[in-house]
Amino acid sequence: MSRLFVANWKMNSTRAAAKSWAAALGARIGARAPESDLVVSPPYTVLAEAADPRGRWSLGAQNVSQHRDGAYTGEVSAAMLADAGCRFVIVGHSERRRHFGDTGSVLAAKLARAREAGLVPIYCVGETEEERAEGLQSEVLAAQMEALLEEAADAPLVVAYEPVWAIGTGRAATSGDAARARETLAGLLDGRAGVRILYGGSVTRANAAELLAGSGMDGFLVGGASLDPDSFAAIAGIGGIGGAGRP
Ligand code: PGA
Repeated sequence: MSRLFVANWKMNSTRAAAKSWAAALGARIGARAPESDLVVSPPYTVLAEAADPRGRWSLGAQNVSQHRDGAYTGEVSAAMLADAGCRFVIVGHSERRRHFGDTGSVLAAKLARAREAGLVPIYCVGETEEERAEGLQSEVLAAQMEALLEEAADAPLVVAYEPVWAIGTGRAATSGDAARARETLAGLLDGRAGVRILYGGSVTRANAAELLAGSGMDGFLVGGASLDPDSFAAIAGIGGIGGAGRP
C-alpha cells in the first residue's frame, strides 16, 4: 500500500488562498503522478478551489453529518460531500470530540453515513496528556476504536493516531511513541486488511523524515504545516529539492 499524506486545513483559508495553494502544490508535483497518495481536507466552502482537476490529489472533508438528510440546519451530509468531489472524510478528530460532542455512537453513525456514500473514513484516535500520564493510553485507544466494530472488515480505512497533547503544540510524539501506538492499533485492528495507519500532531518538514522512518507509520495527517504548500510537499517527499526531513 502506498503512503498517504493528508492536509487538514481546519478552519482556515479563503477561496483565493485555496486556489493559490492548489496551484503551488501542482507546480511542486509537476506532470508525474506522486508516489504517495495525497489528500487535502479544506473547509467545505473552498472544496472546489482546493481540488486538482488533474487528479494528483484527492479531496477530503473534515467532518460529516451523522444524519442522511432532512431538517438538520447547518449540517452537510456524506452524499453531499461525495457529490462535491470528496473521496475521504475525517471522522473523530479530537477537536470535534472535544468541542462538538462527537463521541462513540455519533461517530459510529458518521462512519456508517460515510460508507453509504462511498467515502473512505480517516478515523482519528489519541489520548490526552492526563490519560497518558495515568498510563491509560491503550485503554483509551481501545475504547475509541470500538466505533469501528460495525464496519465491514474489507472496507478501505485510514486510522490516524493523533495524541491530543501533540496537536498544534509543536511537541510531536517521538518516533518510538508513534511506533508503540501503531503496534497497539494494529493489534486492535486484529488483522483487518487494507488499513493505513497515520501519525498526526505537530508534524513539520523538519521532523517528518525521522518520524516516518522510525515509527513505521504509513503517512501523516498534517494540520498547521499543511497550510504552506511547500511544507506539505516536503513532508510528503515531493518536489526533488526539499523532501521530507529537510529543515
Ligand atoms: P497539527 O494538527 O499538525 O497542527 O498539530 C494535526 C491535526 O490536528 O490533524
